[in-house]
Amino acid sequence: MLSAYVFDAYGTLFDVHAAITRHRAAAGPDADRFSEIWRTKQLEYTWTLTLAGHYVDFSKLTERALDFAFARIPSVDRGLRIKLLEAYLTLDTFPDVHKALTGLKARGARLAILSNGTPRMLTAAVDAAVIGGLFDGVFSVDAVRSYKPSQKVYALVTDSLRIKPSDAGFVSSNRWDVMGAVSFGFKAFWVNRSRVPNEYPDQAPEQEIPSLTALLDAAG
Ligand code: 2OP
Repeated sequence: MLSAYVFDAYGTLFDVHAAITRHRAAAGPDADRFSEIWRTKQLEYTWTLTLAGHYVDFSKLTERALDFAFARIPSVDRGLRIKLLEAYLTLDTFPDVHKALTGLKARGARLAILSNGTPRMLTAAVDAAVIGGLFDGVFSVDAVRSYKPSQKVYALVTDSLRIKPSDAGFVSSNRWDVMGAVSFGFKAFWVNRSRVPNEYPDQAPEQEIPSLTALLDAAG
């Protein structure tokens, strides 16, 4: 039994496409492509800026990526800008989240979030989902002003919880984040809900799981 489980937030606990889902009718037929571009650019900015030695917080990068998506897909009404950014603060959790978190907590595991999100974004999302009471820590990369998969980001949680990486499960649906967590020494679980092809063969996860509730089987 692992003593702690560290969860990625966006894409793992919170559905990043829930913002567009709430405004799908107004967004029109290009809604899904628009949301994919928004997410892809948001992540790309974290990687490129980190590689170049810069830091701009995730809230601002989320806005900049959204503005790129509006420029790229002109059919989506820019009048949705504020509504989409507001929705991003209270994204829906995936249906498996509550059962997995409460089940692991009942088994005595410590739980944490480690995310690119700013403290304000994470507090808003966790409060909206009413899951804050389950966590021993909610950690933002903001504290080290670098983004995943920078190894100093993963060290933030092990240093704060005083745990060894090999004693903790790291749970993410982002395969590149799992690559970073495996490199750091975590026992990483890749949540592959949408059955996308595997990547990063040199940094394989401990286990690929179809949903978060599979963590309960793994925990025994
Ligand atoms: C997160 O850190 C990777 O966006 C993802 O929450």
